[in-house]
Amino acid sequence: MYLDNQPGWYQNAVFYEIYVRAFYDSSGDGNGDLAGVAEKLDHLQDLGVDCLWLMPIYPSPLKDDGYDIADFTAIHPDYGNLDDFRRLIDEAHRRGLRVILDLVLNHTSDQHPWFQAARHDRNSPYRDYYVWSDSDQQYGDARIIFLDTQTSNWTWDELAGQYFWHRFYPCQPDLNYDNPAVQQVVLEAARFWLELGVDGFRADAVPYLFEREGTNCENLPETHAFLKRLRAFIDEHYPGRILLCEANQWPHDVCDYFGEGDEFHMAFHFPLMPRIYMALRRRQVNPLVWVFEQTPAIPAGCQWCTFLRNHDELTLEMVYPQDREWMWQEYAPEPRMRLNLGIRRRLAPLLGNDRAQIELANSLLFTLPGAPVLYYGDEIGMGDDIWLPDRNGVRTPMQWQAGGSAGFSTLEPVRLYAPVIDAPGYTSQEVNVADQRADPASLLNTIRRMIAVRKAHLAFSLGEMTWVDAGDPALAVYWRWYDNERILVAQNLSAEPCQAIVPAAGKGELRDLLTGETVGLEGEKLRLDLPARAYRWLL
Ligand code: NOJ
Repeated sequence: MYLDNQPGWYQNAVFYEIYVRAFYDSSGDGNGDLAGVAEKLDHLQDLGVDCLWLMPIYPSPLKDDGYDIADFTAIHPDYGNLDDFRRLIDEAHRRGLRVILDLVLNHTSDQHPWFQAARHDRNSPYRDYYVWSDSDQQYGDARIIFLDTQTSNWTWDELAGQYFWHRFYPCQPDLNYDNPAVQQVVLEAARFWLELGVDGFRADAVPYLFEREGTNCENLPETHAFLKRLRAFIDEHYPGRILLCEANQWPHDVCDYFGEGDEFHMAFHFPLMPRIYMALRRRQVNPLVWVFEQTPAIPAGCQWCTFLRNHDELTLEMVYPQDREWMWQEYAPEPRMRLNLGIRRRLAPLLGNDRAQIELANSLLFTLPGAPVLYYGDEIGMGDDIWLPDRNGVRTPMQWQAGGSAGFSTLEPVRLYAPVIDAPGYTSQEVNVADQRADPASLLNTIRRMIAVRKAHLAFSLGEMTWVDAGDPALAVYWRWYDNERILVAQNLSAEPCQAIVPAAGKGELRDLLTGETVGLEGEKLRLDLPARAYRWLL
């Protein structure tokens, strides 16, 4: 292990989410693979991220892109084998990069041998690995998550002669956590990867592990009890490794997943994400102020994970119906852009490919509380393809170079797992890593600088935040402070120039951490002229 074993490393880390199939095809078969990720670690190291999150890499029929696992302790043949995996971990660690995996706890694929055994034989020990019923009426208070395609959480299985329970697609039967054997095999799966050196897990869909009649079957005490058990197991045998919680819930519910510092180390802040887009489009800071008012303090040693986009649709579950309609009108004017309760678009197209807005969104991401998670391709402003099925339109090949297969693969474009984006403004000629790396003013280099500055100042990751009323609702201004360091973040959300007036008694000067310019302080108030969509991080 070549990493510093600092406790709390994750609190100050920048994460980077990788869809392995999309990243780099080292074998020339049209699919990205683990060796491909290893080959591209230069890019990630250069960008300055600390921890890679790999979406599921396990054997799977890929009905839900690997979130339907058919074997918890092996690698999907498209992605390579365990030796490739070991090499990737080793090479990442050698460069000081950590790697976490997706751990899908709630369900398996229907092709998993456990489910196959279960459906074939009522007396199989695997029958009780899943949740069965003679009727489809149980747990009626549980909502349906994939609203566009599902009408029930129960599906009749002809072979089994019973209904089985699933919170997602019917090809993803839920595991039965009331069965101690299930809890044990899941711990064993975690152990397998921890032994191979992974630095932790992004735990998928955790609110749904248990079912209880008369409840909505989310966030149940039994679920928390199991998750605490998983945490205790990690703390005991693999200290320093982390658990990141995927619970698309309100902050007061998500907070329970931190426990008293004895459950998850980290949790995604789902409600913040759409409010960043609201604030940008409304040119008003109040959605952001509001969401932090709703966010309770979290236990010491815990951290939020914040993000602008990920591999799913931009979820609008954590906004009220009226705001959801507004978000759809503003950000998904074409019906095809909508999916379930969300929007299937990437960051750059959402913001009209407008460089100033993309930078501003990133400025918010890197300076608000929480550890940022970047989604592959957003660092260069990649586009999307809303006409691909499901969420595939935001999972297209990474654009490394101009032309052909965008440097993603040696194969010709038609033989790739998915088409390279060819929409005007987003083609690989216009958007690629190589060109942006060479251009000091590119989005890639701007984000790289933001990451470097953020990491050099613990106020951004560990510091407190105080909002400043700077005299105009279009201004997002706050102090971040930690120890004796104070940073004033001033952002103009509007398309007009604006002056921020900040009470800042004293003399001296503030230094812009991004440009090196200084601002003199004289008297009671600091007056900062901010051009349209400007952002300044002032020490
Ligand atoms: C959440 C994942 O992000 C999503 O991609 C997946 O479809 C569901 N969980 C089911 O595993």
